[in-house]
Amino acid sequence: MKSLQFNNFGFCYLHQKNKALEEISFDVEEGMVVGILGPAGAGKSTLIKALNGLVPQVDIGYQDGDVCIYDMNTRQYDVNQMAHHVAMVLQNPEIQIFSIKVWDDVAFGPANLGVPKAEIIRRVAEALAETGLEVSPIAIQTSSPAESSKRWRSLVSWR
Ligand SMILES: Nc1ncnc2c1ncn2[C@@H]1O[C@H](COP(=O)(O)OP(=O)(O)O)[C@@H](O)[C@H]1O
Ligand SMILES: [Mg+2]
Repeated sequence: MKSLQFNNFGFCYLHQKNKALEEISFDVEEGMVVGILGPAGAGKSTLIKALNGLVPQVDIGYQDGDVCIYDMNTRQYDVNQMAHHVAMVLQNPEIQIFSIKVWDDVAFGPANLGVPKAEIIRRVAEALAETGLEVSPIAIQTSSPAESSKRWRSLVSWR
């Protein structure tokens, strides 16, 4: 099953003469891990932001073609709806961390999506276990992301 599809996608930022991307078409099958390579300014970030509608809804501009996540066309959903399906870590993961406690930071994502408290607790435990980091429940609740290792800070922002 295809998890995402770009069909003749193109994008021109507002007030820019040249398109950042044009005629981009490709599919990604569910479960695939894909790397997108290119020099600075090639359009990698623009492409990624199109996955959840940040482009063009927040970074305003003109979109050609379509981007679909499963059967959701990003033209038909708000970024906050797409956020239930597309997670994103930006170029500098550390600046995405803002809570004093690791547990609070990992909980921010589901809390922001309106997930009930019991489910947030379950997801945080699962997410922290998935990172493969051996930490006690007490350490998670009391330690600060800023004091954690760089690798851990990246993982926390990913969750
Ligand atoms: N917010 C923006 N407003 C106008 N132009 C932008 C904006 N963001 C990126 N661009 C331009 O779009 C092109 C692609 O940029 P970007 O997607 O950031 O490339 P990459 O991530 O590969 O370095 C570049 O020419 C860049 O200058
Ligand atoms: Mg970039």
